[in-house]
Amino acid sequence: MATILMVASEGLPFVKTGGLADVIGSVPAALTEQGHEVSVIMPFYKKIKDKYADRFNEVFTFESEYTVSIYYREIPVRIYSSMVEDVKYYFVEHAGYFERDGLYGYGDDGERFGYFQKAVLEMLHQLNYWPQIMHCHDWQSGMIPCMLKECHRDDYRYSQIKTVFTIHNISFQGNFDASILTPCLGVPYYLYENGAVRFDTGISFMKSAFVYADKITTVSPTYSQEILTPQYGEHMEGILNMRRYDLWGITNGIDIKFWNPKTDPDIYENYDLINVKEGKKANKVALQKEYGLKVNPDVLLVGVVSRLTWQKGFYLMMEQLSAICASPIQVFILGSGEGQIEHTFRNLEEGNKGKIVFYQGYNEALAHKVYAASDLFLMPSLFEPCGISQLCAMRYGALPLVRETGGLKDTVEPYNQYDKTGTGFSFEKYDSVDMMNKLNDAIDLYYNNPEDWDMLMQNAITKDVSWHKSASIYTTLYKELLD
Ligand code: ADP
Ligand code: GLC
Repeated sequence: MATILMVASEGLPFVKTGGLADVIGSVPAALTEQGHEVSVIMPFYKKIKDKYADRFNEVFTFESEYTVSIYYREIPVRIYSSMVEDVKYYFVEHAGYFERDGLYGYGDDGERFGYFQKAVLEMLHQLNYWPQIMHCHDWQSGMIPCMLKECHRDDYRYSQIKTVFTIHNISFQGNFDASILTPCLGVPYYLYENGAVRFDTGISFMKSAFVYADKITTVSPTYSQEILTPQYGEHMEGILNMRRYDLWGITNGIDIKFWNPKTDPDIYENYDLINVKEGKKANKVALQKEYGLKVNPDVLLVGVVSRLTWQKGFYLMMEQLSAICASPIQVFILGSGEGQIEHTFRNLEEGNKGKIVFYQGYNEALAHKVYAASDLFLMPSLFEPCGISQLCAMRYGALPLVRETGGLKDTVEPYNQYDKTGTGFSFEKYDSVDMMNKLNDAIDLYYNNPEDWDMLMQNAITKDVSWHKSASIYTTLYKELLD
């Protein structure tokens, strides 16, 4: 069994902006159950410090202090740690780089995460902790395989470490000006000149990972095929095709102890398979009352919990607003993101009080309530590496209506009226009429064939969305690397 250090930019229970945090908060425990020793390292963001401000010393332990060189200056690093059950989380502290309101999206992100990765590699030496595998997630840790192989190759303690790089979203690549390569990252400039870390006219953290990582994974089998094509590859398909024999698609799971309608403290009323129908109605009525929807336990409630970005396919919804408003449904949208989408949803709520609610923002507890109360969960993504939300929806008996892409295709089994199988609904083409037709099919089934609807709900709530199967596949992957 392997000693693994996961390097990531966010993770529960400490900090979350999206599905990556769900993964980093749950896959280590699943791997630990398989016998691996797993640790995680991430930046010590302001958000984490704020969250634990009143019990900082209880939660965090100071581990070490040292410096790394950035632009020829020695910049201090402080490492803290915290145990969550059997998993050790490390944090890289630097006030200037990480104590800001947000996590990413700053002009100096290349420098911030360059510093982070250098600090991570130096920590191994400082703590004399040598994992067999460094498992890096997304561009924020994408330079580590390159740094290990190019900057530490003469030190056997580093050179024997194997690397895995997981793509959670290929549209965020960490592309920067080549001028940061040597003075900031400490990576020799000829690696830009010979093309190894070059992408277009600059450097790319993600592309470097595709060149140097021993194995590459992404978060569903379908997405692993899609990213080999120009339609989904975001200009990385060429290099990925060269590495396609090392590219694995491993579907995400969720923490089924945390996401459990039977025990979830955030929902209005707990329920399980036995009383899912009544339980969901009780949650629906409570949500309707709290957020000003017309109280009616029998109306079909459609839920959305999402970042409101082009990735998630909301432009399809925006093309069908009048049809949606004319349908015998209620809609609850929880999310924030692009101004145009927010603006449209705000107007939609204004014109449809009692029928449509748009809650703008990020609200963890409310997300749980929406999964519990909704009958249908809408996720018509343009692309979706895996998707965590549809897994949560199924776990709470809300049937996902999805576009057949990436992990949505792999995890949502469409309703089959002949053999009475399925856990949701799906459509193939990125086309708003197709989406609306599928929504109409779902509405028809809900009102006119409640037996089949109940069967789908039972299928969804009993579907295995845990990490169990996928943790074994990661084990096979790690084993292949170490054998
Ligand atoms: P992505 O990571 O691309 O945003 P995923 O479906 O993988 O999409 O994961 C989204 C995660 O973030 C889910 O756990 C979902 O419940 C949560 N989430 C998304 N938007 C919100 C929000 N506005 N409030 C609370 N939770 C949210
Ligand atoms: C990204 C993807 C999402 C995936 C998540 C976790 O945010 O957009 O599809 O579920 O990462 O892997």
